[in-house]
Amino acid sequence: MKEAISILKSEHRSISAILYALKELARMAHDATVRPRFQVLRSMLRYIDEYPEKLHHPKENEHLFARLVARALETRLLVEELQAEHEEGARLIRELERALLFMEEGWPVGAREFQQAVEAYAEFHWKHMRKEEQQLLPLAERHLTAEDWKAIDAAFAANRDPIAGMQERDFEKLFARIVALAPDPVGLGERWA
Ligand SMILES: [Fe+2]
Ligand SMILES: [Fe+2]
Repeated sequence: MKEAISILKSEHRSISAILYALKELARMAHDATVRPRFQVLRSMLRYIDEYPEKLHHPKENEHLFARLVARALETRLLVEELQAEHEEGARLIRELERALLFMEEGWPVGAREFQQAVEAYAEFHWKHMRKEEQQLLPLAERHLTAEDWKAIDAAFAANRDPIAGMQERDFEKLFARIVALAPDPVGLGERWA
């Protein structure tokens, strides 16, 4: 498998793991009988905001998508759809942050709204990643040249955020923190009663 494709798929797996955990915690926050610890929910939203939104999607836009459209114009509609979804995702994450703040101030008021916002966001993001893996990647494998892949592989492996200079390892730390904070059975933290 091409290096960039395996990186892209493994990033999708990390994003999926966070989405799954976030859904589970949103459900638990709704059912909890004592005030949930909100720190872990904030860390999860930060992960989504800074990882898929600021690193993963720009890499796709600037390297994979741009080269694919240049090689095969007929892929333009699909690429534009995916790019529009990247923008929609950025808007939805702001809504999630607002819903979390609202829940944090008034819990248990706002717990249902937050849970619904999380469900909608996770569904949206899963659909997006499936579209990339099932529709876009086969087209990329068909149309891109060895030279394209070399450039894309290098860009995907470097994984730098051009704005903040953030790198992969920062996210490993954040990921580890989420696992430590998330309550049993989602993570290793103390159970919310
Ligand atoms: Fe994407
Ligand atoms: Fe993606």
